[in-house]
Amino acid sequence: MKILVTGCAGFIGANHIYYLLDNCKDDEVVGFDALTYAGNLETLETAIKSPRFRFVKGDITDRETVEKLFEKERFDVVINFAAESHVDRSIEDPSVFLRTNILGTQTLMDAARKYEVPRFHQVSTDEVYGDLPLDRPDLMFTETTPIHTSSPYSASKASADLLVQAYCRTYGFPATISRCSNNYGPYQFPEKLIPLMIANALADKPLPVYGEGLNVRDWLYVEDHCIAVDKVMRHGKIGEVYNIGGHNEMRNIDIVKLILEKLGKPESLITFVTDRKGHDMRYAIDPTKISEELGWLPSTAFADGIVKTIDWYLANKPWWERIISGEYAKYYEQMYGSR
Ligand code: NAD
Ligand code: DAU
Repeated sequence: MKILVTGCAGFIGANHIYYLLDNCKDDEVVGFDALTYAGNLETLETAIKSPRFRFVKGDITDRETVEKLFEKERFDVVINFAAESHVDRSIEDPSVFLRTNILGTQTLMDAARKYEVPRFHQVSTDEVYGDLPLDRPDLMFTETTPIHTSSPYSASKASADLLVQAYCRTYGFPATISRCSNNYGPYQFPEKLIPLMIANALADKPLPVYGEGLNVRDWLYVEDHCIAVDKVMRHGKIGEVYNIGGHNEMRNIDIVKLILEKLGKPESLITFVTDRKGHDMRYAIDPTKISEELGWLPSTAFADGIVKTIDWYLANKPWWERIISGEYAKYYEQMYGSR
């Protein structure tokens, strides 16, 4: 099969490229990415050496470029990971989130329809369901939980999901959607909780915990997400939504303390800062559907995944040090300077 992976230079897209190259030897993979601040070609250095992978730079909202690519390549599958993905940035400036996440998805679907791509997979998020209360541990997100978004980011992802579903119903568009919980692992941009806390701890800088750190996320090792997306893309039912998550709920403060402990750093580095606006309290995925229909369950326990992740950041300092010393330094000052 010839597979298009958009957002291939970002965290999960790049991990997915490596998953496909390592595990799906009959597939040819084209990666497409605009190389925004979050995209990093260095991440794909090894992939680019493979004869089964090609990188194309481009923006998913650029209709002409997208159509030319689809006309030339005649893909069997499109997997759309490309997105603006950071909630805090969406609160500062929603516009680019609406453009990329909604219009970009539309542009890709229009090209897929025009060139009759037999399968389209939209990578979405559990954030489209809003949040759950802390005092109801029995509640979890299922695929029928109503959409109820909190941030411009989640609203843009939910809009894209609705558009995908509208294309399925109106045009018989052959799409699936997956909604995943928080990922962690190698190549995650250090603006997100886990890599940010690792980088700050290693530099003996304050670890900025929003509010009281009691918010809960359902953490999933990135490779498990890639396996799930691959299963949905190959065997999922057209028109269906699949939740992906790992029954691994943890409070932010406990994750931060664990990272400090693993790195041998003191808890005095923790600094409680002003909370995120509209901060979702708890996410928790019920993965029954994907587990029963496609036989997927996470295989990496958090205790192992977090050690692998910390070891990766220790072994790949130049990768993230280049990021935090560049343009990102200005962002950090703007977001955390007066918080
Ligand atoms: P990321 O921010 O690390 O990477 C996004 C990639 O998309 C970057 O390489 C960026 O250059 C590229 N991109 C952005 N705008 C583009 C455009 N207009 N055209 C082409 N490329 C563009 O994000 P991520 O964490 O890897 O997330 C990937 C996808 O998974 C997103 O759709 C996100 O909503 C979803 N998701 C992420 C998580 C998570 O925990 N990170 C969980 C669930 C779902
Ligand atoms: O649930 C899936 C989502 O997970 C994805 O759709 C998003 O793309 C991804 O970024 C992630 O969103 P979160 O907002 O949950 O992730 P983030 O790493 O930004 O924050 C995780 C939690 O940690 C959240 O409760 C906010 C908190 N936090 C985050 C940062 C960056 C802090 O306390 N301090 C921080 O500096």
